[in-house]
Amino acid sequence: MKLLTATLFAATALVATNAMANADLAKKSNCLSCHAVDKKLVGPSYQDIAKKYAGQKDAEAMLFEKVKKGGKGTWGAIPMPPNANVKDDDIKTLVKWVLAGAK
Ligand code: HEC
Repeated sequence: MKLLTATLFAATALVATNAMANADLAKKSNCLSCHAVDKKLVGPSYQDIAKKYAGQKDAEAMLFEKVKKGGKGTWGAIPMPPNANVKDDDIKTLVKWVLAGAK
């Protein structure tokens, strides 16, 4: 059990610090079927999102809600559907990663 806890902790630390892991999480969570890091697909590029909200300290909480529940009208007419199957912790990680420029 101790070993399992240690392993889980190590894995969490890796996800928090490792950019590749974040990109993998975005892929696994289906975000990358509509978003790319540096160009517009169905949704805005993650770099454009990072630019738009640079310096806004409430952006993280607002975007968390938007990714979880979906929404439209900020970037155009196409809505983002709710990402109800993605875990809250994963959404938080993804929003932080996007706001940091998806690097
Ligand atoms: C079916 C396509 C689709 C999927 C899947 C999708 N998005 Fe989006 N996303 C969009 C669209 C379209 C917009 C623009 C919505 C708007 O104009 O308000 C958007 C907007 C966003 C924004 C900016 C919101 C704002 O108000 O500025 C973020 C952040 C975001 N998506 C993150 C994610 C993350 C993280 C995932 C995966 C968990 C994800 N998206 C999955 C289509 C998608």
